[in-house]
Amino acid sequence: MRILIVGAEGTIGRAVTAALSGRHEVIKAGRKSGDVQVDIGDRRSIEALYTKIGKVDAVVAAAGHVHFGPLAEMTHDQFMSGLNNKLMGQVDLVLAGIAHVNDNGSFTLTSGILDRDPIRAGTNAATVNAALGGFVLGAAIELPRGLRINVVSPALLDESAEKLGSWFPGQETVAAARVAKAYVKSVEGAITGKVITVG
Ligand SMILES: NC(=O)c1ccc[n+]([C@@H]2O[C@H](COP(=O)([O-])OP(=O)(O)OC[C@H]3O[C@@H](n4cnc5c(N)ncnc54)[C@H](OP(=O)(O)O)[C@@H]3O)[C@@H](O)[C@H]2O)c1
Repeated sequence: MRILIVGAEGTIGRAVTAALSGRHEVIKAGRKSGDVQVDIGDRRSIEALYTKIGKVDAVVAAAGHVHFGPLAEMTHDQFMSGLNNKLMGQVDLVLAGIAHVNDNGSFTLTSGILDRDPIRAGTNAATVNAALGGFVLGAAIELPRGLRINVVSPALLDESAEKLGSWFPGQETVAAARVAKAYVKSVEGAITGKVITVG
């Protein structure tokens, strides 16, 4: 398969790239890193990416920013930044990507644990993650030509624990290599409309 991985040089993206690249042709995309550049916060940039790379069999998104901060201090603009980037960035990768993904291809998006195991300062993340789950549920029954869609919802990664662990007191972490298997399952398997939880 020819697979576009957006966020391929990130903590999750590197593990997904390692898991898929032996068997498939992987095109790595990032804001600054990778083979090709894209800003998922900019629809024109997403359109330009698809035009540049041509048809693919699968799109994996492992990128997206949310705003972490206390709810009582959160501004409208801070809240919207997460909706615009992690939610709409991945939604736009799908909306623009339908015409560029071959028949029976797939989309695999990334959410996270915070809509089922919340933390302080995580309301924006919880909202975005839950919305991504709703998006794949709805989109799965409408996608044409046998296209499938799932979202992987990992716990905090072992590899991110040093940097972020203090925000997630007592939460179990999960190895990136285990998280990557969920993306392999989505890309190479047959499921659709699922939130694949890991950890
Ligand atoms: N790490 C965790 O423990 C964890 C757990 C659950 C969920 N998640 C979610 O998984 C996603 C990825 O997390 P991560 O920890 O792997 O992130 P990361 O290590 O910071 O890597 C992010 C990757 O995405 C790319 N990227 C960032 N902004 C982009 C944009 N606007 N357009 C295109 N590419 C962009 C980066 O490229 P450049 O380096 O070139 O900018 C980089 O390759 C996030 O949405 C996060 O919320 C992470």
